[in-house]
Amino acid sequence: MNTSVRQAFDRHASVYDQVFTSSQIRSEVWEIADRLFFPGAHVLDLGCGTGEDSMHFASRGVAVTAIDLSPKMISRLEAKAHGLVRTKVAGMETFAAAEREFDGIFSNFGALNCSPDLAWLGKLVHRALKPGSHVVLTTMGRFYPLESAVFLLKFQFRQAMRRLHRPATAMVEGVRFDVYYHSVRAIRAALGPDFELKQLVGLRSLLPVPGLEHLERFGVFKYLRPIDRLLCSNPLTATWSDHFVSVWQFRETQGSAL
Ligand SMILES: C[S@@+](CC[C@H](N)C(=O)[O-])C[C@H]1O[C@@H](n2cnc3c(N)ncnc32)[C@H](O)[C@@H]1O
Repeated sequence: MNTSVRQAFDRHASVYDQVFTSSQIRSEVWEIADRLFFPGAHVLDLGCGTGEDSMHFASRGVAVTAIDLSPKMISRLEAKAHGLVRTKVAGMETFAAAEREFDGIFSNFGALNCSPDLAWLGKLVHRALKPGSHVVLTTMGRFYPLESAVFLLKFQFRQAMRRLHRPATAMVEGVRFDVYYHSVRAIRAALGPDFELKQLVGLRSLLPVPGLEHLERFGVFKYLRPIDRLLCSNPLTATWSDHFVSVWQFRETQGSAL
């Protein structure tokens, strides 16, 4: 169990919803997921945080099991959910799902980036998912051009390249922990050949994300918006972004169960 990650997000839980929850980029992820997770389906939310996504899916009639390493994050979700979402304090690497329990697996905004390698994900999806199911993962990209440009303008060269370090470090509420910027290739390798990449979308390449909103006062972003859209929607450049969403479909072949 990663105690620094748990400590960081326990401390962050009380303010998390003010800082990050109602963002435009979250709605963009929902637009993608809502086309795949239907009422009556059972979806597993990995690293659910305060559970905004779990609550969104549940409000649409999707049954949700939400897990997180941080007991404080789970408490926040339970306070909102009033039993509507099944919750568990658990590490996603060791979560024991029943066979063919889920119609979808979802993980939003970087929970997977706290995990050094994703071998566990391959085991989990093969055990827990029904054939035909989708996996929707929002993970942090290795290169966010706007962030690098901001650091370069401040002559902070190491910081400009910080996402290329392995591990890189993050600091949340004064707690430092390691983060890992997984490539699409690494996610593909973890999921295995039974999973087909259906969609790859970037969430902000040249435009500011929550936390960098102060930059929005610069008029230049008005002109960068269409280029950002192009970069984020093209699968070849979609991962050059703060976060990217990858959508995978389980096409089970004979003998593929791990
Ligand atoms: C940046 S937050 C994202 C939360 C939520 N998915 C959202 O979109 O708001 C990352 C979350 O992942 C959780 N997390 C990190 N490592 C984890 C692990 N190994 N198992 C379960 N949860 C983990 C953290 O506790 C935190 O709540």
